[in-house]
Amino acid sequence: MNRFKWNNHIYFGDDSNYFKKKKFKNQEIISEQTFKRVQTNYLRYREKIDDFNRKQVTKLRKKIISLRNSTKKTVIDLFCGCGGLSLGFERAEFDVILAIDNDFSACQTYAFNFKNSAVLCLDLTNPEANPAFLTEELNLGNLNVDLVIGSPPCQGFSLIARSKIRSLIENNIWDDPELINGDINYKKDRNWLYNDPRNILYKKFLNYVNFFKPLIFLMENVPGMKSYNKIIQQIRLDFEDVGYSIQEKILNSVDFNVPQKRKRLFIIGVDCNGKEVASIRNNHILQPQKRSGNKSSYPPIFKYPNKTSKYRLLNEGIITVRDAIGDLNQITLSGEKLAYYIKGIKSEYVKLIRRNLKEKKLFNFVPRKTVERDKKIFQFLKEGDKYKNLPKLIRNFYSQQSHIKDNEILDNFIDETITECMPYGDGKKFGDKLKRLIWDQPSWTVVAHIHKDGYMYIHPEQDRTICVREAARLQSFPDDFVFKSSRTNQFKHVGNAVPPLMSQVLAYHLLDFIKDILKL
Ligand SMILES: C[S@@+](CC[C@H](N)C(=O)[O-])C[C@H]1O[C@@H](n2cnc3c(N)ncnc32)[C@H](O)[C@@H]1O
Repeated sequence: MNRFKWNNHIYFGDDSNYFKKKKFKNQEIISEQTFKRVQTNYLRYREKIDDFNRKQVTKLRKKIISLRNSTKKTVIDLFCGCGGLSLGFERAEFDVILAIDNDFSACQTYAFNFKNSAVLCLDLTNPEANPAFLTEELNLGNLNVDLVIGSPPCQGFSLIARSKIRSLIENNIWDDPELINGDINYKKDRNWLYNDPRNILYKKFLNYVNFFKPLIFLMENVPGMKSYNKIIQQIRLDFEDVGYSIQEKILNSVDFNVPQKRKRLFIIGVDCNGKEVASIRNNHILQPQKRSGNKSSYPPIFKYPNKTSKYRLLNEGIITVRDAIGDLNQITLSGEKLAYYIKGIKSEYVKLIRRNLKEKKLFNFVPRKTVERDKKIFQFLKEGDKYKNLPKLIRNFYSQQSHIKDNEILDNFIDETITECMPYGDGKKFGDKLKRLIWDQPSWTVVAHIHKDGYMYIHPEQDRTICVREAARLQSFPDDFVFKSSRTNQFKHVGNAVPPLMSQVLAYHLLDFIKDILKL
């Protein structure tokens, strides 16, 4: 096993996620003993994953046999995370047969919630995750896949990431080993964003599309990607090369009963290689008819759903934070399961979200501990207020004394003149990093950063940040969807997900679209 070190990362060739641990920060040389310990832990971790994957493969084999009697359309979800996108497709009566992600905790959550799907914990950049190798190795035969869906990460296109990376470069603290040690010099390369290795994971997605030749694929990404014409153009050409025509659109989740403004780019590809499109479907789907004649009308245009879609589950207009979490009472207990505390508010949205919940228990409802200092600061914020709305004296105090957590010192400061405590330093840079949600409006985008801190999501009236369940409700996850692993991971998975209600509407429209194609 090779061992080499990059800054705070230790790589054993793969599974680098495992070693992204703070404890190795700035550690130039590690002792043989530490190395042995890390190695042993790593091997245990690998064993756990291998064991998990073995069980999933058994499940997959059974699943494939059961498909013979099924009329559902089959889906593979790549970069599946905890399964927000999958959930919408399952609900729209697709059958997600296989999902893949390299984050073990996400896979655990996925496996727990999708009992009828197999999920593999694999790094899609590894040769073993190549679809040809995988199907051969797992002896999957001619697996028929109707749709490939997924969210290949392209962090370099996220507007937040772009400005963050730029500022890190400017301050000479850009230390991502993958990028520093790569071939790209980010300071000199004018096209550094295009060359960012994190932006080419979509090519792995493309490999799967090319291998399985689904009728349709759906790729989700950050809207920032659309502003790079060159990238969209490149994606279009790459997929055209393998016989797909793409159509892209930015949708906002707030239009689909999700109590959150979240814009996402959806790219749909339709098989247009001029062969008998329908004939690649096997019999368990609709009986295909030969596509004939009018080639110019093919591939047909997909009509993306909008806020008037007949597949929206609720007729209501905008769903607000109050609709979403107003029924959850103040949290006073700790523990994984807590009883429901209903204030008497039960919106249509909450009825929908709780529809399948068998027990009157709420999972993932333990908030982060709020330090006294923050409680005091939060009190200064009204609904919708941000860091920059704090009294100036408080901001000054906090930018200078961010290390002070001690309540007494803060009290003195407040008494003396100053009242401020933000761990964000300069308010110009982080003006909206501290934000209190507004009861009667939808939430702003719940981003994956919420796993680091929840300061952008302070409860509308309680002086604390929201908990995982509340974030999940803002993302339209139902209450019976349970998030596994550490709370930090839970937040990450929620923040990364496609809101299931949005995915569901899209999935139903795709189903209609497929039916239309098969009738052509
Ligand atoms: C935006 S999230 C996916 C969210 C998901 N579609 C949902 O709706 O819940 C992107 C996922 O890609 C996974 N990922 C990143 N790099 C990967 C790789 N090399 N191989 C496999 N998965 C990867 C991450 O672990 C993350 O879960």
